[in-house]
Amino acid sequence: MTESFDEALKRTHNCGQLSSGDVGGRVRLCGWVRSYRDHGGIVFIDLRDREGITQIVFDPSDDAELHKLAGSLRNEWVISIAGTVRLRGEDRINPKLPTGKIEVVADGLTVLNKSQTVPFEPDATEKVSEDMRLRYRYVDLRRADMTGALRLRHSICRAMRSVLDERDFIEIETPFLTKSTPEGARDFLVPSRLQQACFYALPQSPQLFKQILMVSGLDKYYQIVRCFRDEDLRADRQPEFTQLDVEMSFVTEADVMEVTNEVLQKICRVAGKEFPAAPTVLTYAEAMDKYGSDRPDMRFELFLRDVSQIVKGCSFKVFSDCLAAGGMVKGVCVPGGAKFTRKEIDGYTAFVGDYGAKGLAWCKVEGDGFAGGAAKFLDEPVQTGLREAFGAGAGDIFFFLADAPATVNKALAALRCRLGEELQLFSPDDFAWCWVTEFPLVEWNEDQQRWDSLHHPFTSPRPDQLEMLQADPGAVRSRAYDIVLNGVELGGGSIRIHSTDLQKRIFGLLGISEDEAHARFGFLLDALQFGAPPHGGIALGLDRIVMMMVGATSLRDVIAFPKTQRGICPLTGAPAEVEDKQLAELDLKIIAPPQKA
Ligand code: AMO
Ligand code: AMP
Repeated sequence: MTESFDEALKRTHNCGQLSSGDVGGRVRLCGWVRSYRDHGGIVFIDLRDREGITQIVFDPSDDAELHKLAGSLRNEWVISIAGTVRLRGEDRINPKLPTGKIEVVADGLTVLNKSQTVPFEPDATEKVSEDMRLRYRYVDLRRADMTGALRLRHSICRAMRSVLDERDFIEIETPFLTKSTPEGARDFLVPSRLQQACFYALPQSPQLFKQILMVSGLDKYYQIVRCFRDEDLRADRQPEFTQLDVEMSFVTEADVMEVTNEVLQKICRVAGKEFPAAPTVLTYAEAMDKYGSDRPDMRFELFLRDVSQIVKGCSFKVFSDCLAAGGMVKGVCVPGGAKFTRKEIDGYTAFVGDYGAKGLAWCKVEGDGFAGGAAKFLDEPVQTGLREAFGAGAGDIFFFLADAPATVNKALAALRCRLGEELQLFSPDDFAWCWVTEFPLVEWNEDQQRWDSLHHPFTSPRPDQLEMLQADPGAVRSRAYDIVLNGVELGGGSIRIHSTDLQKRIFGLLGISEDEAHARFGFLLDALQFGAPPHGGIALGLDRIVMMMVGATSLRDVIAFPKTQRGICPLTGAPAEVEDKQLAELDLKIIAPPQKA
């Protein structure tokens, strides 16, 4: 049957749609040749589009000429077929495919476009390097996994919008060509042609603009927005990423958390996951104490415990020297861990070493006493104290770290997560959400000998602790909150400072001079003087949310066109050198020739 090219584009169904209810119907499908098989002279094509796969049959006894044309098809050619739906023979039913009970017997075929041999088959990417996948991303995105992730991402954005629209939030865009914002990473800079020797900074977040929108009385703002941070990349960090950015006026922490919970609830519903009616709320102090981290993975217990008080009189020099120097001794008890071999224990010791620990003390509980490692230094009362603190019993093992609290927590938190995974203390489907609140306002930067904001400098301290700002800044808690899922920080925000005076005091504490504050954030300081309402907000990392919902381990699996670890886009070749003419227009000169990688 001959048909015009335009007629061939008029699909009746997609490739994931047909079922036994359609048997006998005439259909037209368009898609990509996923695979081609010749069984005893009969040609079978798997035709793929984003919705699924349908088997097409070309039988020479029906139409010899069409069968011959089908014989010329190759993988990834784009075709249109017309035909009739029929049930597959019992032996050819594919229970894995939604369309697995039927096939389409073709009576029309139009080749819409040929394809060169693809560098890899979209459905067989296990052995393909990520670089190849990113370079030929258009082929990679034909994969059901990738298409699925992008579709879920779209549904999640819709869920976010629907909750916030329902609650009368207004989506407002803010500039990309702007001034440096203070999220603590390096800025990406864009040279200005019209204002030579001046640069725009791409925003690390819309933080300052959303606060200014509150001063304008816009009351409830949101935006699904790209943010840019020039930082060292990891699996859960991209140089450009997307936030659901939210800001609200006349609110407390509880109001922002309540809206966020509803957004997350809806997202989880869309993704087929659980969100608790009331997620656990932990203070920063509790999180650090029990998990050694402000991003606690609450899928399993294995709590850490500060045992400084219990071991303080013991004869183990490693412990006593550390305590005398103002450090802490903290431990974890692994139920059944007495079976660990010496080699395994040495492995854990090397592991905590990567996090700065100087060693790893251990001992096993055997019968009524302790054995091995540090056991000989721990006398009866200390042993009893440790057993009681951890509820430990025979067959368990203790691991202890003695060091400055920051090192102890960092290393033990990592060890705890490694043990949780190795001992399979949680199942891959577990979802454990928590809010972390009452962060310290500032932390001491040893290298620079000054206080840094833990979040950003616009975060409000707790109003009842303002008098401590001078005398003991490290003890002041902020009004910040983070939402954490399975040990991954998905979002964070705070109630902001809305008073110019307090904002100036905080800049002073952070060692930002009045001149510098004015040069960097003068526009915000000005705005705060003109009727700034009390306000607060949050930003959720969209990429991280989608990554967690699909169970991916890298953000690159949920972003259509991501950058590699080295900040490169293998598809486009960005970043790239530019022409001398472009540099001249910007009055820029490359002094050192680029080093070729
Ligand atoms: P923050 O810097 O905590 O807060 O960012 C909020 C969330 O954004 C995500 N995120 C990232 N995702 C991918 N790649 C990155 N490089 C990256 N960096 C951050 C995380 C994080 O929790 N303006 C404040 C928010 C506020 O105070 O309202 C801010 O940007 O999921
Ligand atoms: P050492 O006295 O350095 O030979 O260490 C004796 C034991 O204590 C070894 O098992 C070390 O791994 C462990 N150890 C050393 N330093 C520390 C530390 N800071 N915290 C915990 N254990 C340590």
